[in-house]
Amino acid sequence: MNRSQCLGKVYLVGAGPGDPGLLTLKGKVLLEHADVVIYDALVSPEILAIVNPYAEKIDAGKRRGRHSLLQQETTQLLIEKAQNNAVVVRLKGGDPFIFGRGGEEMEDLVKAGVRVEVIPGVTSGIAAPAYEGIPLTHRNYSSSVTFVTGHEANEKYRPQINWDAIARGSETIVIYMGIHNLTNIIVQVVAAGRSLDTPVALIRWGTRPDRETLVGTLETIAQQVEETGFEAPAIAVIGNVVNLYGVLPAHQF
Ligand SMILES: C[S@@+](CC[C@H](N)C(=O)[O-])C[C@H]1O[C@@H](n2cnc3c(N)ncnc32)[C@H](O)[C@@H]1O
Repeated sequence: MNRSQCLGKVYLVGAGPGDPGLLTLKGKVLLEHADVVIYDALVSPEILAIVNPYAEKIDAGKRRGRHSLLQQETTQLLIEKAQNNAVVVRLKGGDPFIFGRGGEEMEDLVKAGVRVEVIPGVTSGIAAPAYEGIPLTHRNYSSSVTFVTGHEANEKYRPQINWDAIARGSETIVIYMGIHNLTNIIVQVVAAGRSLDTPVALIRWGTRPDRETLVGTLETIAQQVEETGFEAPAIAVIGNVVNLYGVLPAHQF
């Protein structure tokens, strides 16, 4: 397909982490004017309520082990919708380019000759801790931060995560999709020399009123997860900045 055959444009819009107030103004205008919106599971209902009521809304939600649409199907759908619709929004939780497959989708759309633009969003790795009063850097606690996935993909090649280098080189570690693999990650972080009393925070559904937060240490947190039945989706923050939890005010809803 060449560009002249394609009427529309695809906008990869970051919905932010849950609180609708964290959606960007650009994102909001696009949702209000969209002809088609293809959205992911982590997009909150309040944000979906902003969508143009005449738009076609398609749930492409993927939760662990439950794929409603395969990645290839989603990309194919975007290409098809862009042929006959002016504004096609691909709405993703957080930021599309942070562990959101936005880069991969954009590549495929470019290859297919579809015009595409990204509208960044507020990523959960920053916003969820911030709403709990946990700054990721602080001059007394941390001058470096790493964002890393805790989910090792089996289906595609991805270089092994070098937990040793991350644990040694970064004072704050922010882990996406890490709950199912938490024990294994902790073993590697401790083996790299991080002390067992390093504080850890897990934040589920961050920035939402129903969020849940669990705070412990590298020594205790896995046991706490088991005892409380804490579940994904959550962000894990490892590092001394977590000492500010309960000291700085959490977001009031
Ligand atoms: C596929 S990644 C998508 C990340 C997203 N693109 C972003 O920038 O936030 C999904 C993971 O993001 C994290 N996540 C997304 N929204 C979250 C929220 N509101 N609270 C806590 N973690 C969240 C969880 O670790 C979840 O397993």
